[in-house]
This record gives sequence, C-alpha cells and structure tokens, in this order.
Amino acid sequence: MIFRSATIDDAQLIFQIIQDAFNFNSNTIEQIEDQLNNDNYRFFLVDDHGFISLTQFEDEADINQIAVKKEFQNQKIASFLIEELMKTLNGVFKIHLEVRASNEIAKHLYIKFGFKQISVRKNYYSNPIEDANVMLYEKENNLIVAFESSADETSVAVVKNGNEVLSNIVATQINSHQRFGGIVPEVASRHHLEWINKVLELALKKANIDDPKKQITAVGATYGPGLVGSLLVGLMAGKTFAMVNDLPFIGVNHLAGHILAANFNKKIIYPALALMVSGGHTELVLMPSENKFEVIGETLDDAAGEAFDKIGRVMGLKYPAGKEIQELAKQGNNNISFPIAHTQGEFDFSFSGLKSAVINYLHKAEQKNESINKNDLLSSFQQAVIDALIEKTDLALSKFKVKMLLVGGGVAANELLRNSILNIANKYDVELNLVPMQFAGDNAAMIGAAAYVNFKHNEFSNLKLDTNPSLDFPYQSHNL
Ligand code: KG4
Ligand code: ZN
Repeated sequence: MIFRSATIDDAQLIFQIIQDAFNFNSNTIEQIEDQLNNDNYRFFLVDDHGFISLTQFEDEADINQIAVKKEFQNQKIASFLIEELMKTLNGVFKIHLEVRASNEIAKHLYIKFGFKQISVRKNYYSNPIEDANVMLYEKENNLIVAFESSADETSVAVVKNGNEVLSNIVATQINSHQRFGGIVPEVASRHHLEWINKVLELALKKANIDDPKKQITAVGATYGPGLVGSLLVGLMAGKTFAMVNDLPFIGVNHLAGHILAANFNKKIIYPALALMVSGGHTELVLMPSENKFEVIGETLDDAAGEAFDKIGRVMGLKYPAGKEIQELAKQGNNNISFPIAHTQGEFDFSFSGLKSAVINYLHKAEQKNESINKNDLLSSFQQAVIDALIEKTDLALSKFKVKMLLVGGGVAANELLRNSILNIANKYDVELNLVPMQFAGDNAAMIGAAAYVNFKHNEFSNLKLDTNPSLDFPYQSHNL
C-alpha cells in the first residue's frame, strides 16, 4: 500500500471514495478542489482505496474525515492511514478529532495511537442524531542536537521544538586568530577537531541527555556556507552522531540559522523580510512562507561585519572589531559625512567605497600631519554602515507587504542598528523580531532552530551530504 499526499488531480478520486464509503456526499467536487487548493487543508491517500483529510493551523491539526471504499474496509486501511499520517505530521503538537459516540471500533483505533477523549459534543451528528466524542493527541517534545563549525566557533546545542534552547555550548577561537587579524583556516579546522567532542559532551550533559537514541528526534549540522575545513568537522560529527544513534539527519544552511534564530525571541510570522548581517554576508531575504528564502538584495563586495573588522584593523583594533567600534563610537560624535553607495540592484549593498573613504580620510590627515579624533571617525563610520542597512530595508518594506521584519547575524548585536530599525518597522506597521543578543553571533542553537523547520517539512538529508562552502539562497529579482 502506498501512502501519499493528494494533489488537485485527486479531487475526482476523493469524491468517489466518499460516495462509495457513505452512499452520500456532503461535498461537491468543486468544494473538494477548493480544499485541495487551500494550504490549510491536507488530504492523504492510500492507493485509490481510501483517504484521510485534516485542517492544519501552524502546530495544531484537526482530522476532518477518514473514508475507505466498501470493498477495502476491514483491511486495516484506516489504521494504516492514521499511522502514516502521524509520521508525516512533524511539528504538529496537537491533533483533534470528533468521532461518533457509538463508534467503538474507531475510538479504540484512536486510543491505540495515543488519542485521549477530552469532551463530548451533544447532538453533534445528524442522520442519525448522535453525540460526538472529542479526542486529542498531544505529541511529545522534539529535541534536535545541532552542530555548527563554519568559521571560528565550535558549537553544539540541544533545542526543543525549534524555539527553546536546552543547551548551547560555544567554544570560541578568537584568541588564536587575533594576532593574525582574521581567521586562519588551517588553524580554525584544527581547533574544531580538538574541541568538537568535548563541546558535544557538554551540550548533551547540560540538556540532561543520557540516551540520545531515545531522547533525541533528529540531528542538524551546518553544511555551508563557510570555510571548507571548518565545515567538515561539524558536518562529519553531526552525520556520525546521527548514524550511531540511528537518528534522521538534516543539513542546515548557516544563513537560515542566523535568520531563524529570531524564533528564540518570538514566533516568526510570515510573510517576513529578513535583514541578515554577519561577518561574511549581508542580505535582504524575503520569506513568503516558513521554509522559503528568496534573496532580494545582497552586498556586492564587503559584508557589513567585514567592513567593521577591516576598519578595526586599519585603526589598530583587535579582530573582530564590531563590538569595540560600537563602544568607542559612543564616546565620539557622528560629525564626518561618508557617502552611502548607490547600487544598480535597488536592494543591494556596497561597503568597499565606505572603507576607502575612511582610509583616505586617515591618509589625508596623516599627510597634513593633522591629528584625528578616532572616536568621531568610528562613530561616523558606524552611522554610515547602519544608514545603508536601514535605507535598503526601508525601501524593501515599502515594496513588499510583510507581517514581520527579522534581523539576524553577528552585526544584529549592534545597538545603533537595533535602535534605528525599530523606527522603520513602526513606519510600515510591521512587527519587529530581533534575534536575542546571545544568539546573534555564530552558535549551534540557531542551527537547531533552522533544522527544526526542515524537520517540520520532512526535509531530511542524505548521509552523503557534502559541505558547500559557497551555499546561498536562490537570488530572486522581483519586478514590481
Ligand atoms: O554572524 P557572525 O558571528 O559570523 C559570521 O557568520 O560571519 O558575525 C560576526 C561579525 C563580525 O564581523 C563582528 O565584527 C560583527 O559580527 N559584530 C558586530 C557587533 N558584534 C559583532 N558588528 C557591529 N556591532 C556589533 N556590536
Ligand atoms: Zn555566521
């Protein structure tokens, strides 16, 4: 028997099954077609013998109907339908249904699958009039173990239901890279190798996991973008952990992790627009629905965090310089005006011109033997970066009607950005969802949040999955 999700082409078949099973049909084919076209309705078929239908709203579902053609009844098809359905509904926590009070066979079947009777609806059914027993199934929590090692943080986390962090261990190697002014790939991968087992052990211990096979639902690991030698360590560790414990594996896009970490602040609602600002990437990403990412704009040269780090280096600050620039800027004034780059793509960014302008400013002062106010320069530089981010986000919000604005990535920790972006969210009456400060920079909890979304949509990866150092979302140009 084959269990499958129904498509619009199955409307006729579904109609026939209802007709055959009940000698009566309260739905027209057109109504069934409308339901098949509606994202909240879902139908699943077993061959052409029977189907189960439900309505789903986020993480709750209602089973509407189970029907099996007469000639196939008493062959455990209903049982098979429920069993397969339960396997498919990842991320659904509550399933409700009503059943005729006298239908003992059906009630027993549901009880076998873990449903409990919670109430009675008087005279719910007609022909003949009868009470309904309301039954509820509540799923256990789903725990995901997640691995992240794309750059200079070795991290493992345990995340519950995509939004609750049970543990998030981050071993940073910043000290080892500081004297080089940036990440040295070879040094990074060696550190990941040294740390990964210890970090895993600590993450499991903190989350009270002593029997992963039983307690964990799935394993996620970053497979790109990032440094190939670094990615390999976390990815191999994740795949091995999944294999040894017989758990499903999910390869995760690091950038999706940065965006979906907003779920740790509050539940993301769609459609959403995400401003993803990290050390390696700066993108505006449109999310029409939960697992869809469309890049509408990106940086043509340096990422926002990279601009902070490069200016930091020129000014003699330690890598990574974002946080220190923010602090020094507080002691200075934004009194030097730097240009905002004009890009061909209306939502694109460019920071290399700004970097050159700052360097030129320094050189000129040096040539003229003039002293500069370092803090004023940093304050003005920071303002120029944030202004560029705000300007393009504002433009995107004016063109795309979204319900929520998400901000993620290491630079999302920047206070000026956090304060300024609230104004444009208010301007467009869009709810703002900023990643919590502790999940802005690289960490495995965010990978757990993203893996959970894949899990909900039954998107698992093969254990042959390789790293993809330049992984990105598809670029979409929207002609509005
Ligand atoms: O997301 P992330 O941890 O790593 C990448 O995936 O790239 O981002 C790190 C970047 C660094 O460039 C760092 O300088 C920047 O985030 N950053 C900041 C702040 N905190 C970290 N930039 C500006 N202001 C901050 N407060
Ligand atoms: Zn990152």
